[in-house]
Parts: sequence; C-alpha cells; structure tokens
Amino acid sequence: MDKILILDFGSQTTQLIGRRIRDLGVYTEIIPGDAVLTDTILAGSEGSVLRGIILSGSPESVYTQEGAVPDKKVYTSGLPLLGICYGLQRMTADHGGLVEPLPKREYGRIGVTVRNEEDTAGKGLIRRFLTGFDKAIPLEKIVEGAPGTLQDQPCTITAWMSHGDTLTRLAPGFREYGVSDTGYPAVAAHGEKPWFGLQFHPEVTHTERGLEILAAFVFGICGCKKSWTMEQYVEELGDALRKRVEANPVLLLISGGVDSTVAGALLLKTLKPDLVHLMYMDTGLMRKDETKTVSTALEKLGAKHLHIIHCEEEFLSALKGLEDPEAKRKAIGDLFITIQEREVKRLGLPDSYFLAQGTLYTDLIESGKGVGKKAHLIKSHHNVGSPLVDAKRKAGRIIEPLDRLYKDEVRQLGRILGIDEEVVLRHPFPGPGLAVRILGEVTQEKCDILREADAIYIEELKSRLSPEGKRLYDEIWQAFAVLLPIRSVGVAGDVRKYGWVLALRAIVSADGMTADVYPFQIKDLLEISTRITNTVKDIGRVSYDISSKPPATIEWE
Ligand code: XMP
Repeated sequence: MDKILILDFGSQTTQLIGRRIRDLGVYTEIIPGDAVLTDTILAGSEGSVLRGIILSGSPESVYTQEGAVPDKKVYTSGLPLLGICYGLQRMTADHGGLVEPLPKREYGRIGVTVRNEEDTAGKGLIRRFLTGFDKAIPLEKIVEGAPGTLQDQPCTITAWMSHGDTLTRLAPGFREYGVSDTGYPAVAAHGEKPWFGLQFHPEVTHTERGLEILAAFVFGICGCKKSWTMEQYVEELGDALRKRVEANPVLLLISGGVDSTVAGALLLKTLKPDLVHLMYMDTGLMRKDETKTVSTALEKLGAKHLHIIHCEEEFLSALKGLEDPEAKRKAIGDLFITIQEREVKRLGLPDSYFLAQGTLYTDLIESGKGVGKKAHLIKSHHNVGSPLVDAKRKAGRIIEPLDRLYKDEVRQLGRILGIDEEVVLRHPFPGPGLAVRILGEVTQEKCDILREADAIYIEELKSRLSPEGKRLYDEIWQAFAVLLPIRSVGVAGDVRKYGWVLALRAIVSADGMTADVYPFQIKDLLEISTRITNTVKDIGRVSYDISSKPPATIEWE
C-alpha cells in the first residue's frame, strides 16, 4: 500500500490534507513536524511504502523559535516533497532563501496565476505538477498519472490563503511558477529535485482545483496508486489481529457509541467470537433505551460474552450534591475507573488478555497524544487513559483497531461489517452522558425528564425531512436536549405552574472541532417544542441554542 507522510507543523488544516488524500484512495499518516525520521518511517511500515512527504502549514513563523524545524533527513530522503504555506517557507529558509513578514496578512480567497514553463532539468516534473491547475484536465486523468499537458496560456485559479510571511528570496535551485494577484510568490519548485511548494492551501475547499493539485503531487509526482480501500483495510487488519491475539481473550469496553460498536463488530468478525468479551456500563446517564439498543446491536453481530454492568445507583450517589461541571466530570471519571477495575477483576480473565478500545485517529490528536505535537488539548477522553489502560499499554496488550481511521471512515467500516444504518449514523454522545446535559446537580428525576424530552426531540428529527428531502437527523451532526437548572412560570389548564426550561441544541460540523448552528425551519422548531411540552409535563418552556463553536462549545458543561 502506498503512503504519504504529513509533517504537522500545527496548522488548523493539517487534518484536512490527510482526509483529502485518503479520499483520493491513498493512505496518509500525520506525525509531528519535528519528529525524528527513522529509517522505518522513511521506508514505510506494516506493508506500506512511503512515496512522498508533505510539510504542513503552521501558525508560527520560520524565523522565530516557535517555528518547528524538520529532521534534515526529510531533505536527503530523495522522496518528493510538497510544502504548503509554512512548509514552503520552511523549505525556503532551510536552503538559503529569505522569508520575511508581509506588510499586511494575506487572508481569504486570492487569485493565483501559474506560468506554463518547464524545469531546467527537463524531466517534465513541473508540467506534471502544474497539471493540477489546468481546468481542462479532469481529476480522473490526474489520478491515472496523466503526463503534463498544461495549455500554453497561463492559467488562473482562486486559492485560499492565510499567511503573514512571504518568500522575499527563493532558495538557490528554486524557481517561481505562480504568483498571487497581490504580487507575491504562490507556487515554487526546485529545478532538479522533486520539491514543490504552495503558498496557499489546496486542502481547503475554497481553493479551486485544490483536490486536483494534491492529486497531481500524489499520483503524478509521487507515483502513488489508489490502494486505500476499507475492504482491503479490514483484511489486513484481520490478519494482523489474529496474529497478535493468538488464542488469548480480548476485552472491549463498549460505550454505546458508533466507535466502540464498530470496534466490537470488527473483533467479532475477525476473531473467534468465543475470545471476545464486551463490557458495557449502564451508568444511568445514558439516552433512553440505550442499554437495550446496544445489546441488541451486539447480539445481532454475534456477541457471545456481553457483560452489562448495572451501576446506575453508584453514579447517582457519586454525583449527589455536585454542581460544578468539573467536579461532576471528575466524579464520573474516577468512578468509571473504580468500577472498570472491579468488574474486570470479577470477570477472571487470564493476565494475558488484551484490552481493546474504539480510539479513533482524531481521539489521539485531540488528546495531544501520538500525532500533531502542536495540536491543542481540546478535551480529555476517558477512553484514552486510565490506570488499567496504562498498565495494559505498558504490557503491550492494548488493541486499538480504529486508531488509524477518521470518523466517517469508521462509519464506512461499520457498514461493511453489517452494522445497522441506524447505529452507524448515530450522533456522537459524550462519555459523561446526561450528567453534562443536566446543568447543576444530577438527580434520578432530572435524568428521567431529560431522557424523555431528548428521545422525543431525536424521534422528531428522524421523522422530519428537510426541503431537500433528507432526514433532519442525517443533516445534523449532533443534536440533543439540555435541562437547565431553572424553572419558569407557565399555565397548564387554568393553573399557574413552574416548569423546567429545556434547551435544544443542533449543530452541523465536520469533526466537532468547530460547529455551526443548524438552521431549522421555524415550523419544525415550533412543532417539536409543542410536542415536548405537551408530553413531558415537568417541562414548561423550550428554547433553541443559537451559539456556534467557537465561542460556545457543543456541550453545555
Ligand atoms: P465540545 O463540548 O467540547 O464537544 O464542543 C465536542 C464533541 O465532543 C463530545 N464530548 C465528549 N466526548 N467525552 C467524550 O467522549 C467527553 O468528556 C466529552 N465532552 C464533549 C461532544 O459531545 C461533541 O461531540
């Protein structure tokens, strides 16, 4: 399998570079920009062959201390390189060029014109790379590795830029092949080596021909072949898992979300089901009928050892009297660990058992572990670390079969494994569950009220269609109800009553890192609100949260 390595210097869009190339059918991996490039990394590992390296953008400048420097081996590897924004500036500064601050930042859509000129070495590489800019050449031709056929005319595209520095002097050996409307270098390449640089971001959809430009590098320059398909990945993963696990049992901690369900299905499909133990904790902070939904889905997938731990009361008493969101999260996290250790011991598995979890590629990034040194810690996932997990990791007995996949790839995998569409498409649900959606103290009564209201909301979203004929539930990335710690005045019949206030949240997002409010048709909101207040008698008022992320977060606590 061909692979492209991405050196991450901290840009917000590094992830997107990886996504776009995977969508083109080529496997990508992201490592910190200043990681040591060992021979194993440069040769490729586990059946993959490294074909090229991309140097990402960065919020830093190359001339400051914060601007990370790549291992020099990147330049002696002989592999094709593509520098994007900071990546290009880095290549320039590292080879004797000059990078300086712009008088005014370039931000947003800016025209870029490329000239159709060949490199001095006459290898046809420049032409091949510039094919990406040529609107007359379709993506399929570029993926097939079409030789450069750039028209003689200079061609112009609209590109997305975000930079405060520019190349005032190119490094020796480099030439400028494209310029921005503002007169700064936008495309540069080395005359002899397969090194290319873009001052703009091809990974951002606002850049015209962005995908084609990436494809020209990946297929035309690096010579990659399409080899990243989920079916093939399942096969390779299955072989590797069987070899690693042998006849030892595997315990998977299931949360009820898409990720752990897919991880469970994968284990059941690739290992003997007798070896697979699935453990699920009913914390009492779950959605309506969650435990039933989870067990039905897993039994359907052939689960033989499904351990459902009922610990509703333990969680409620740990939360008693707690109002502060962080105190609530900590109490839940601590109890989760205590119960996990107790119950695992109770199972009596031999010490040699493997512990599996449904960690995704983005979970590792969000936790600041493994990839993207500069990626900020967004939230702490309690599935990435616990004493049990740490001990198993130390013993080399952790299995994270989804840790190379993005969320939508996990959904795709779920479909291949035969998981019901309804489970595959479920919205994300946070580990601490309803506790972070009941503001203030959590009680059994409030859990029941919220569960009921949330179920109605979700049911409505599944039955209502958008003007385009799609279920609202599928248009929305995540939707849920939040119970506020206030009551407001209302009337029921002729009687004055104080009912709880419920907030509805619905957002659209690519990955949960940023989010926009879902623009409901007002009629839908009015009808949903009426049904909730008519059915859940303790709720007197419903409001809709119209905050995007940032500045708000998706969850309220
Ligand atoms: P925020 O609220 O940080 O949420 O904007 C981003 C995404 O993460 C989910 N979330 C969590 N998931 N454990 C989880 O497993 C948590 O503690 C947690 N907190 C938030 C949230 O539902 C959204 O999808």
